[in-house]
Amino acid sequence: MWKLERNPVNPSLSIYDNLGGEEVIRQIVEAFYPKVKANPLLGPLFPEDINPVMEKQFMFLSQFFGGPSLFSDAYGHPMMRARHLPFPVTRERAEAWLACMTEALEEVGIEEELKDFVIKRLSGPAFHFVNTP
Ligand code: HEM
Repeated sequence: MWKLERNPVNPSLSIYDNLGGEEVIRQIVEAFYPKVKANPLLGPLFPEDINPVMEKQFMFLSQFFGGPSLFSDAYGHPMMRARHLPFPVTRERAEAWLACMTEALEEVGIEEELKDFVIKRLSGPAFHFVNTP
């Protein structure tokens, strides 16, 4: 049976371009951090002023999804696992992070196939950053 797909993932484009580029990455980051701040496992790890974190995440995700290398241009090699070492990242926190991101993608209206693809792509790093039992 044919399944009607409004916006199938285009495999010849980057995730960045599949999502819709800069504007949509910004929307995702803006939808994501209020959920992180409200999450009892994640919120307490983050500073009162979340704006600098949001800007860095916008820069990092742009690059990670195959867009412009904004993060490395500004801060050098990402070394993301090392940058998370000061914070106790547990498996539960990685799961909570991914759940907040799933909700953010839904809120922004990312189509399901693309959403699942993005979450799979982020799951690797999220569990790799676990540094605390
Ligand atoms: C696994 C669960 C995760 C937790 C608990 C977590 C937590 C944090 C915390 C507490 C910070 C520092 C905030 C501050 O500046 O005070 C941070 C920074 C950051 N996180 Fe995560 N994070 C997680 C996963 C991820 C993932 C999967 C990504 C991207 C793929 C990511 C990207 C970033 C970036 C880009 C920064 C800013 C780094 C910088 O300061 O240069 N994080 N994270």
